[in-house]
Amino acid sequence: MKKKVSIIGAGNVGATTALLIAQSGLADVLLYDIVDGMPQGKALDMAEACPLWKSSSAIVGTNSYADTSNSDLVVITAGLARKPGMSRSDLLHANADIVKGACSEVAKYSPNAIIVVVTNPMDVMAQLAWKTTEFSCKRVMGMGGILDAARLAAFLAWELRVSPEDIDAMVLGGHGDDMLPLPRFTTVKGVPLTELLPRKKIQSLIERTRNGGAEIVSLLKSGSAYYAPAAATFQMVKSILLDEKRMLPCAAFLNGEYGMKDIYMGVPVILGETGVEKIVDVKLTREEKAQFRKSSESVRKMIKLLGI
Ligand code: NAI
Ligand code: 2OP
Repeated sequence: MKKKVSIIGAGNVGATTALLIAQSGLADVLLYDIVDGMPQGKALDMAEACPLWKSSSAIVGTNSYADTSNSDLVVITAGLARKPGMSRSDLLHANADIVKGACSEVAKYSPNAIIVVVTNPMDVMAQLAWKTTEFSCKRVMGMGGILDAARLAAFLAWELRVSPEDIDAMVLGGHGDDMLPLPRFTTVKGVPLTELLPRKKIQSLIERTRNGGAEIVSLLKSGSAYYAPAAATFQMVKSILLDEKRMLPCAAFLNGEYGMKDIYMGVPVILGETGVEKIVDVKLTREEKAQFRKSSESVRKMIKLLGI
């Protein structure tokens, strides 16, 4: 039997993630949204594309949580997206209510699911999802680092005039303005980036990465990025459903790793069929540690504001 993935929020990121899953035939997809008819319409459209994709995924849209029953994996994308001038944290209270409500229903109907949280501010929403569902922290995680690393990889590929395929970028920390792109762990076919570009150039690409979400928001004028976010989410879903055990930067619950406790932060993890199978606790330099701490303080501030 195929695995079942429910996607809560059939907007830009949710529907594009659904498309990638259905197109690849990886799993059956259930698309949920509060807007009447919209998830049904998008699901029908994608189902009609399945013969062209030669995919046997079933894809169904719904406004009822009962239809999400017994999902193996649930992706949470429900919520508001940024508008120009807004930071991810401006979305805090409105999205907390939405994520809390969604996670209560998910816990009720799919008690064994793995949850991937996308809704912003993502690290805090992952923490809220974990608290609300009371699932093991191994089964609740957030998407952010893969997207940020992909952005850095794209910028590097253009600068170095090499294929993005040969770039392995690493971005840790919270998925916010204080994220931690790490040139020390970024390589081009194994060659450290620090040997290929001058420090100043690397710094400017790091800044562009930190600002990558806002750059797209200001171009789109309404709504935020979704093609790369959906591709990043798909990578997580695939690693879990196929038990690939890929090492990917994801928001995971830290319990002593990186010198921190009781907080979701972006760190390299091994993703397999049981969820976060391992947190890879990389030794950071003093400067990197200070940046990681700064990033965690932004996340902690929001956790406090929500009182979770
Ligand atoms: P969107 O506005 O296109 O879609 C959001 C969907 O959520 C809408 O269809 C809306 O009807 C639905 N929704 C609202 N309240 C709901 C509820 N109570 N239950 C179910 N569905 C509900 O937004 P988009 O672009 O898909 O972004 C979704 C979220 O993901 C935003 O918070 C955005 O900031 C975040 N995001 C996070 C990224 C990351 O790297 N973690 C990357 C890109 C987006
Ligand atoms: C992004 O980085 C908005 O978090 C979203 O594009």
